[in-house]
Amino acid sequence: MSSNKKIITVIGGTGAQGRPVIEALVAAASPFSVRILTRDANHALAKELVAKYGVEIVEGSVLDDAAVAKACKGAYGAFVNLDTFTLGEVAELHAGVRAYELACAAGVKHFVWSSLDYKLKSNNYDDRYGAPHYNAKGRVWEFIKSQAKDGDMLCSVLVTGPYMESLGSIYAPIGQRKSDGAVVFALPWGAADSNLRFPFIALPDIAFFARWIFDNPPSKGTVKEVPIMSQFISGPELAQAFQNVTGQRAVYVPQTIDEYVASLPFKDMPLAANDTSPSAKKWTWGRFFTTSMRLWIEPEQLLRDRDMAWIKSVHPGTMTVERWMKATGYDGAAGKDVLKRWEAATPQRVGVEHLLE
Ligand SMILES: NC(=O)c1ccc[n+]([C@@H]2O[C@H](COP(=O)([O-])OP(=O)(O)OC[C@H]3O[C@@H](n4cnc5c(N)ncnc54)[C@H](OP(=O)(O)O)[C@@H]3O)[C@@H](O)[C@H]2O)c1
Repeated sequence: MSSNKKIITVIGGTGAQGRPVIEALVAAASPFSVRILTRDANHALAKELVAKYGVEIVEGSVLDDAAVAKACKGAYGAFVNLDTFTLGEVAELHAGVRAYELACAAGVKHFVWSSLDYKLKSNNYDDRYGAPHYNAKGRVWEFIKSQAKDGDMLCSVLVTGPYMESLGSIYAPIGQRKSDGAVVFALPWGAADSNLRFPFIALPDIAFFARWIFDNPPSKGTVKEVPIMSQFISGPELAQAFQNVTGQRAVYVPQTIDEYVASLPFKDMPLAANDTSPSAKKWTWGRFFTTSMRLWIEPEQLLRDRDMAWIKSVHPGTMTVERWMKATGYDGAAGKDVLKRWEAATPQRVGVEHLLE
């Protein structure tokens, strides 16, 4: 570990989001080195980060103040992406606020909160738009805004959205093809002629902007808010992108949100297995996707909150679905998810045979 580099503590560093962020933070001639907080220093992904990027490890949970304080000690920066799907909404809110406070107490100079849009607030607290990960992250974002103006720690908020990489799992084509061989993207993204577009952020774009934020800190007393997205894409455009890249015929078949959720084999499983709070009981994966899909698609909520011209001016290499498919050799198979917590292959959608007619 080089002693003259500024340490950035990454919480969530072994995760799908954290790994490319770390790669970007230490990329060529970087002034930064990385330390991660992980619950298991012996996990293969933690060991890989040590081997590839020389990361330093602090073992412990984000729910343990002493572990977070140790991870922040002597660090210049912190990049914090908390996992709603292990913590649950209530614990994430607490842990996010504590991460801010403990980073402040440790003398961290620049705190970056990896957030999602506070859609509950912008929909007048209508619970139909209250997805747990958006709720917890949005509330911590509000807390940071309320504190940062008085403090010495610089604060930034990176606002992302659904990963493009989930095209290899929950948004992959259904397992069966039509009788003419066409691949079927069956998704609740509106009628084929509706002009609705689903928001996707590619992980390399999150990584680019995470590094960009540390290279371009805000001035004291202001919070730098950076809402990003890679591409908003309609169902027909998705099928066309697949055809362009693979040469295979593909069709988009619109579903209602209820039909899509009914086809997910894990719909009745609890959202966050470790969440013991009373509110956790109502959150199955089915309810989660119903609520989330509404805020992604219904009134194109996220489209309103993104300045794509600005995003592309800062990052001309912003990913498109078509470029991502080419770069990853995408073949439409639902395989192993990019998420650390979902290490098994994504199960096939169920009850979708009628879509082949
Ligand atoms: N899926 C998406 O499309 C998407 C898009 C934008 C934002 N997000 C947000 O990203 C978050 C999940 O991150 P991810 O996508 O990187 O998932 P992931 O690949 O499953 O990784 C989860 C990360 O959280 C860490 N973690 C979980 N519980 C922890 C604890 N108690 N203490 C310390 N670290 C803990 C894990 O670290 P260890 O296992 O090493 O301890 C791991 O690094 C979610 O809250 C979600 O809202 C997801």
